[in-house]
Amino acid sequence: MRTPIIAANWKMYKSPAESVKFIREFLPMIESHGDSEVVLFPTATSLVSVIDAVRGSVIRAGAQTMHWLNEGPYTGQTSPTMLTSIGATHVLLGHSERRLYANETYEHVNLKIKAACAHALTPVVCLGEMLSDRQEGYTADTLMAQMGAALANFPQDRAHTLVIAYEPVWAIGTGSTASPEIANETHSIIREELKRRFGAEIADEMRILYGGSVKPSNVAELMAQPEIDGALVGGGSLDPETFSQIVRFGHRDKPERPA
Ligand code: 13P
Repeated sequence: MRTPIIAANWKMYKSPAESVKFIREFLPMIESHGDSEVVLFPTATSLVSVIDAVRGSVIRAGAQTMHWLNEGPYTGQTSPTMLTSIGATHVLLGHSERRLYANETYEHVNLKIKAACAHALTPVVCLGEMLSDRQEGYTADTLMAQMGAALANFPQDRAHTLVIAYEPVWAIGTGSTASPEIANETHSIIREELKRRFGAEIADEMRILYGGSVKPSNVAELMAQPEIDGALVGGGSLDPETFSQIVRFGHRDKPERPA
């Protein structure tokens, strides 16, 4: 059975003090949250404070992006070794906002995934189509192209460590979530491609999260879908009470997938 992951992408919100305040309030709220993994992705300047504040708890923390090299003349960048040196365990890669506003391509994502795995950081790789892709019937083609570039020459023996986040761009920050059925169907397309690349046994172990307007009111229905293994939450993760509800309702004991 795949352990669910409920992750918070705080984007460009929360100072270090605000992040620590969130964690102090949030931790007691999720004491009996089940066995989901909970991961926070704060902005870079809050990451050290977040890692300190979650130490000893079930929560893990990671960066919203990184460079693939360990050091060099790259102004504004953070390297994999810098992240591991402060205790980060995860890294978000290829988020559509970084592709849109920071020129991140899936060729970059490919280099970053490989670097993350080489440094034992868990990469959470974002995929997702634009509204026009879906309306014109190109959702599967778009996802195949994204995976083709992001996962090129990725070693099969590392594939189980990858986490995929399916985030349809039209559902991010818009309040309109993909219906559980549409999300599940799209996750199946992604898993079929993962099977083709890495084999059924490995692909069945890999977690595919859904992201895009996840809230306490829709998370249970999404998580009840057999192909949805967790959530990547933006706006709904900024308030401790709301996010704790997502963590609680987002926990689902799913039946084993048939062999
Ligand atoms: P929202 O939950 O605000 O739609 O954002 C989703 C997202 O981009 C998470 O990475």
